[in-house]
Amino acid sequence: MKSVNLKGFNVFFLSGKGGVGKSTLSTSLALSLSKKGFKTLLVSLDPAHSLSILLKEELGGSPTQVIQNLFSLEVDLERSMREYLKRVEKEAEKIVSPALIGNVKNQIELAYYSPGALELAAVDSIYQIMRKYEGNFEKFVFDTAPSGYTVRLMASPDKLLNWVDSLIKMREESLKYRKMAGEPVGRDPVVEVLRRRREEYSFLGKVFKSPKTFFGVVVNPGKLSLEIGKRTVEELERAGVRVNLILANRFQGKGGNLFGKPTLYFPPLKEEPIGIESLEPFVELFLKVL
Ligand SMILES: Nc1ncnc2c1ncn2[C@@H]1O[C@H](COP(=O)(O)OP(=O)(O)O)[C@@H](O)[C@H]1O
Ligand SMILES: [Mg+2]
Repeated sequence: MKSVNLKGFNVFFLSGKGGVGKSTLSTSLALSLSKKGFKTLLVSLDPAHSLSILLKEELGGSPTQVIQNLFSLEVDLERSMREYLKRVEKEAEKIVSPALIGNVKNQIELAYYSPGALELAAVDSIYQIMRKYEGNFEKFVFDTAPSGYTVRLMASPDKLLNWVDSLIKMREESLKYRKMAGEPVGRDPVVEVLRRRREEYSFLGKVFKSPKTFFGVVVNPGKLSLEIGKRTVEELERAGVRVNLILANRFQGKGGNLFGKPTLYFPPLKEEPIGIESLEPFVELFLKVL
């Protein structure tokens, strides 16, 4: 049996399909870390506000203290996407000629409403939060993990960075011609967005690959859930990140290592856990490996 050890990690991501217990277990994990004395930030990107319900606490976009050492925040992704879009458009209106504004707006909008945009907004949020609160917390627990596809995008940033660089170059070329044509060209919002993306991808790539970053996959009993869990592990590892733990939730009794990984077993509770106290059995289990 591979031993489970969660010491030494400072960023935690829990992955798994809807309803398997990500919010329940990431909250329990964050509670355990705070009980160990680490100043911890628990982050939810879930539009269903499940964390607010679970913690019986109104959460918002900035950290709210839950108990000693534990703070939590909830990001409304759809809203932050809309706000971001508006901000960039406002910026653009200030600096782009009226004749071109429609074109620029379309470009910004296209980038944001393309497939996978919500997931990119999620990683954008992860980036913003880590950057903003880096110095304020010792441990970060994210109640969601980006998919293997997105991780792969960030974890091998060379291709991505080359691509962003070539977009920047193309954009700058086109600005050059406009300048030559006598158009006033100043700061360009598109180039700025691209540069920010560039910096973001390389930061996140480092975080995802860091040995101090923890990836856990939550599974439930049953063939389908286990199969999906296995695929998630494979997908993440193909993307170049190591899956550190399988969290086997709602299992009666214990089995061995699932998918050849260290595995921690969590029993089914008689009642749906609501409120911090109800998570005590899970906190106990985490405390043994922290
Ligand atoms: N071990 C468990 N025993 C009993 N109920 C559980 C257990 N784990 C999760 N639940 C309940 O199952 C539902 C889904 O869990 P949740 O943590 O919200 O999943 P996710 O965040 O992955 O969508 C919630 O109502 C939660 O209270
Ligand atoms: Mg959830």
